[in-house]
Amino acid sequence: NKVVLAYSGGLDTSVLIPWLKEHYGCEVIAVSGNVGQGTELDGLEEKALKTGASKLYIEDLNKEFVDDFIIPTMQAGATYEQYLLGTSFARPIIAKRIVEIALKEGADAICHGCTGKGNDQVRFELAIKAFAPHMDVIAPWRFWELNSREKEIEYAEKHNIPLKINKETNYSKDKNLWHLSHEGLDLEDPANEAPINKPGFLELGVSPEQAPDVPTYVTIHFEKGVPTAVNGEEMDSVTLIQTLNKLGGENGCGILDIVENRLVGMKSRGVYETPGGAVLYAAHQKLEEITLDKETQHYKQQLALKFADLVYNGQWYTPLRKAMSAFVTSTQETVTGDVKLKLYKGNIIPASVTSPYSLYSEDIATFGEDHSYNQADSAGFINLFGLPLKVRAMNDLALQEK
Ligand code: ARG
Ligand code: SIN
Repeated sequence: NKVVLAYSGGLDTSVLIPWLKEHYGCEVIAVSGNVGQGTELDGLEEKALKTGASKLYIEDLNKEFVDDFIIPTMQAGATYEQYLLGTSFARPIIAKRIVEIALKEGADAICHGCTGKGNDQVRFELAIKAFAPHMDVIAPWRFWELNSREKEIEYAEKHNIPLKINKETNYSKDKNLWHLSHEGLDLEDPANEAPINKPGFLELGVSPEQAPDVPTYVTIHFEKGVPTAVNGEEMDSVTLIQTLNKLGGENGCGILDIVENRLVGMKSRGVYETPGGAVLYAAHQKLEEITLDKETQHYKQQLALKFADLVYNGQWYTPLRKAMSAFVTSTQETVTGDVKLKLYKGNIIPASVTSPYSLYSEDIATFGEDHSYNQADSAGFINLFGLPLKVRAMNDLALQEK
């Protein structure tokens, strides 16, 4: 029999290869989704085979990740308790490809290395249910004997698994094109300040203190809500995110330190680096300020909360998420234009916004003389708008007089 393993090359998933073979007597096929984790993928095939996998698939998902997951979520303006959802939407895309491979390989089960305490297990397994409802799932963390890091390392050494463990990499991290998350170790106590100035901690940029004393301006062009150019240079969506990561990272932007509410009930503390994402969200929101009408803008803000819950909770492949995305796409029809931002020591400061679809009218808004707004209209408007308040106040007065 065959098991397909969601494989990253980290300690957990490396140990899983000999462990699965030992406990299920199965062939193990490892699959890694390339969503922009960079050097983490170097030497992965050799490592997987050496550890006992019969083969390793490395699937390039970068473009699909940006176009079909990152940009739609950004357009929705969705953040979960400020978190830009970098791990949350990476799991469904990886899981979908793993299912495709498992079906093609005729595998009996899919195995993942998520713990039973987190969100990722839910995201993986909901996606598996969506595409292979009868597939068995093996989640060893819920029942295996290697229930501590020490035991895992001991097991790895016994099975000749190459390890490169040091104190720095001992945080539980998840890296992709959009973000890097840090959890565990000293971060587990919210009383401890996150060591963002410690060399080696941040990987996608520098801390605000370490950022240059002069600001960097960046201009982003959007077509119907899709970012297409940075500083006048058109680029594909993957390069665009990388470019913004560099500019944002150099200026200490997009570092978030929160205690968040996990789906499985507990609160957990995480530090996130999303340098390009933070810049992109700010630019897009700025453009919507002038291109969306008030009602759509406000309704969209409500939707963003629910959209974020769906993404965070692993419900990407649900009818509701798809319908909400259709709504968001429709609102983006006029979200075209240029936004210039000033990046300075972790701050993202708006500098300018222009759009051919701008609903902002200087002639109407001006404090100077205008030709389109009749101030005399206000008197009647306020009389009707304030009517309920006035009736109530008159009633209160009459009651007092009795
Ligand atoms: N807390 C974040 C989330 O739920 C990040 C999880 C990181 N996952 C990991 N396997 N290191 O989306
Ligand atoms: C895990 O528990 O496997 C990682 C953290 C999470 O899923 O929230």
